Amino acid sequence: MGIGDLFKSRKINNAGDSSVLDAGVPVAANTSGIQPVDGSSGIKESAGASQKKPGASYRQYFSLKKGDKNKAIEEYDFERYGTLVDVQIPDTYESVDQYWVEQGCSLIVIGHNKRTNQNEYLLFEPSLSDFEYELLERLHEDLRDVLILTAEEIKKDRKRTLLEKMHALIDDYGLTLEQFTLFKIQYFLIRNYIGWARLDPLMKDPQLEDISCDGNRVPLFLYHRRYRNIKTNIAFEPDVLNSLAITLAQRSGKHISTGSPMIDATLPDGSRLQLTFGTEVTTRGTSFTIRKFREEPFSPIELMEIGTFNADALVYFWLAIENNKSLLFIGGTASGKTTSLNAVSLFIPPVAKVVSIEDTREITLFHDNWIASVTRQALSEGGNAINMFDLLRAAMRQRPEFILVGEVRGAEAQTLFQAMNTGHTTFSTMHGGSVDAAIHRLESEPLNVPRNMMQALNIVSVQGLIYHGTERVRRAQEIVEIAGIDPSTGNLRVNNVFMYDPVHDIIGYTGRSQVYMDIAERRGWTREQMDTEISLRKSILAAMMKQGIRDYISVASLFHAYYIDAKNVLSHIEDLRKVIG
Ligand SMILES: Nc1ncnc2c1ncn2[C@@H]1O[C@H](COP(=O)(O)OP(=O)(O)OP(=O)(O)O)[C@@H](O)[C@H]1O
Ligand SMILES: [Mg+2]
Repeated sequence: MGIGDLFKSRKINNAGDSSVLDAGVPVAANTSGIQPVDGSSGIKESAGASQKKPGASYRQYFSLKKGDKNKAIEEYDFERYGTLVDVQIPDTYESVDQYWVEQGCSLIVIGHNKRTNQNEYLLFEPSLSDFEYELLERLHEDLRDVLILTAEEIKKDRKRTLLEKMHALIDDYGLTLEQFTLFKIQYFLIRNYIGWARLDPLMKDPQLEDISCDGNRVPLFLYHRRYRNIKTNIAFEPDVLNSLAITLAQRSGKHISTGSPMIDATLPDGSRLQLTFGTEVTTRGTSFTIRKFREEPFSPIELMEIGTFNADALVYFWLAIENNKSLLFIGGTASGKTTSLNAVSLFIPPVAKVVSIEDTREITLFHDNWIASVTRQALSEGGNAINMFDLLRAAMRQRPEFILVGEVRGAEAQTLFQAMNTGHTTFSTMHGGSVDAAIHRLESEPLNVPRNMMQALNIVSVQGLIYHGTERVRRAQEIVEIAGIDPSTGNLRVNNVFMYDPVHDIIGYTGRSQVYMDIAERRGWTREQMDTEISLRKSILAAMMKQGIRDYISVASLFHAYYIDAKNVLSHIEDLRKVIG
């Protein structure tokens, strides 16, 4: 699409308009430079790359103009200048909530659409006049030529480099701009070149769990921590969407094309991406789902504050893990399986060797002796794909004590159960609504785990995304133990250890745990000693919550400290920070 066609079209309209700003806008920037998305690599130092364009003269100009580089570039400051966004909520909406994702630049309005009677997620960014829009497009065009970075520039702050080049171009055009115009242009250039273009505010919104694009010209849908599934005022034209998809794939180091149209990948910030390119597989056009990465994983203390687990259940996991019991987290999509697995993994003793195996990297631990492995697709035809099964087999030779498997879906299930049967402790997740369904799935095609091997699995925790009143909450629904095979029927026996009570919103201990009995026996503890240990650990969790020790690093450090010298930790229970320094 020609640039010329674009800026004639219209002013940038905020709510409800698929943004013309996205079209033709390069959104890629990879780690080695600032790179437009449309096929040119943007970083290579190739000589004749832009001879046909006037840009060549800009490049000469920039190399001559080195002296100016230190000129102060003023960056926008909300406190000082006030907002750049002019919010006009259409009459059909009533504002329910508003918050800044980037102060003064991108505002989210949760608007109640009076026609449909539903909430919508409206993104507002600075509006541009025709002149500003035209200028932005021109800068985009010219920046492609000058953003061929020198090795020295690549090392520098990318934002600075971008702004320096932009200012040099504006000088070159002979323009003196108003402060606000400059700020707006800076905002869009940074968001497009370094950020994720129109997706950028969404990627930065900590309230979002998932971003999904269902196809061409279909509004994006989100999963919002407070407003749940919600429609946005953002949609993409086919060519913009395809170029965005290519950028998403490229920035995660993967290749996507009509020939190989599906990928699972990890974005540079750790978010998980599933992407399907073109209309062949997904008929409404390119689609993607981004599971946003929470920079800091939920710690057990946070899950306790939220109410997913209570102290009893956490102490149960704590003792079970210390005593090498294998766990499986099951539940529906996005019920919090991986999050729970990650959280309880912080209970793993400090120097134990851990190997994690995932399709896309999600698990984050604070643990030194940890090999984090990820599968990979074949990079070319006949190339070597490495799947979960391969990684798991390799892991068995690395003598790990704990093996964490992101999600079990295929042939690796058998190997995983072999690992359990040969004395490894494994934590994994699997899709499944109930314990029975999960067992059935494990035993059938294509997983085919023999029933007698299943006994090596100790604990299954069922996660659920459920309603509590009108609120949508994540709760452990039940925690069960696999208690062997009933000799008369040949069925697996399960023992319910914790059950969720929806009326009181608590997860209650049933008082019967084979795992606890087994631990007591192995440690030579009497029932009273076991009870004392449980209540000491509960008091530690309560003290951590009270003292605000909840980030995963502090939490893991404290569990490590407890493992090494429990008495010392207990003697500082009034001020646990003293133990973790
Ligand atoms: N207990 C919780 N409380 C609040 N938010 C949670 C909780 N557990 C998970 N989340 C959030 O829910 C989303 C989904 O979590 P997670 O990826 O753990 O689910 P999952 O069951 O593994 O999903 P999938 O089936 O897609 O693998 C994430 O954004 C996560 O931050
Ligand atoms: Mg998961």
